[in-house]
Amino acid sequence: MAANPFVYGEVVPPSAFVDREVELARLVTDLAASQKVFLISPRRYGKSSLIRQALAALARRRVLTVELSVASYSSYVAFLEGYARHLLALERRAERARPWLAGLLESFRPEVRVEPRTGGGQQLSVAFPTIKHARDEVRLAEEVFRLPARIAASTGRRLAIALDEFQVITAYDGDTIEAALREAVQQQREVGYVFAGSEPTLMEQMVTPRRPFYKAGPLMRLDRIPSDVFTTFVETRFRRSGFRVEKGLGAALVELAGNLPYDVQRLAHELWDDARVAGWRAVSVDTLHRTLRRLLGEQATLFESVWQRLTLAQRAALRAVVFEQGRELLSADVRVRHRLGGPSSVQSALLALQRLDLVMREGHGRYQVMDSLFREWVARKTY
Ligand SMILES: Nc1ncnc2c1ncn2[C@@H]1O[C@H](COP(=O)(O)OP(=O)(O)O)[C@@H](O)[C@H]1O
Ligand SMILES: [Mg+2]
Repeated sequence: MAANPFVYGEVVPPSAFVDREVELARLVTDLAASQKVFLISPRRYGKSSLIRQALAALARRRVLTVELSVASYSSYVAFLEGYARHLLALERRAERARPWLAGLLESFRPEVRVEPRTGGGQQLSVAFPTIKHARDEVRLAEEVFRLPARIAASTGRRLAIALDEFQVITAYDGDTIEAALREAVQQQREVGYVFAGSEPTLMEQMVTPRRPFYKAGPLMRLDRIPSDVFTTFVETRFRRSGFRVEKGLGAALVELAGNLPYDVQRLAHELWDDARVAGWRAVSVDTLHRTLRRLLGEQATLFESVWQRLTLAQRAALRAVVFEQGRELLSADVRVRHRLGGPSSVQSALLALQRLDLVMREGHGRYQVMDSLFREWVARKTY
């Protein structure tokens, strides 16, 4: 039986990767030219997926590639260890990597071990047990940040490094780490970097004047995938799996998903599963709504608890976002209709909803609920 062609919740494989040709070509070119790229978009727009494609293309050109998410680490030292380990893994023969890294990081006496990996094979672990003070951290960071250049020099190859969820770096110790990293990467002529981040406001601030990364390199903002491209993708994949696609299905699905890449793939994936399990021959707007009702039922407990934790002002503002399609929320008209109170209290409710990651503010000042399922739940189950 054919596998579900729609993928969500992870970096998309090439088979489910849509559009982004321009962005991909640009990112590949910039990284190959050792630029330091800032890649910004809200969560789930496809940054990590784009990066994966770009690095794969670069690897085919013999560029050494490293990809890690800053958000996976619980402390600055843990991040430095993880970063060193990823760089070290460029030397594929694990046993040989050990002295190599130890040599590069001499002064910190790293503990480099080869461990069995769960599921087979080997992996390296790197620890810096001698680091005890913030002062040591600063020196260690300088060394680790210099590693890519040394690796480029010792291997004679170019490197491309992706630091994903880069906004998290500000949580470690703010300015000094940004300054140290900027200082290091600036001098690395053989190493391209992409710093990708999900919190547009935090990321945008990092590239303003007086911050270390100001004018460090090109800025790329990832927008939505055009809805007609996604519509065609959805319908084509259903057809190729042997389903008849009834009129309007693709467009309805993309619209219901708010045209967010993750949400489009999720709805399509779940609809495909339902269609297979139930043995439907065709997919239609009607079967799409059946799938939607199932998903809303499964998420109900979660959505209820999110809703219950909101203040009354936040609930009212959230409903206004849903029913007004996020437009003109401060206007007298909308405030009266949804009993929202004064503009400043609406504004602070909207801000709180953004901090809770429930709502995002788009370019032209329009608000949107982050999760299209939650939006549908609010529309149907709250009053
Ligand atoms: N180019 C793309 N084509 C198709 N689906 C995509 C694409 N980019 C992202 N998606 C969908 O969005 C989800 C989230 O993508 P991801 O790359 O993790 O986003 P981000 O890193 O911006 O949070 C993916 O699992 C996939 O379902
Ligand atoms: Mg990501």
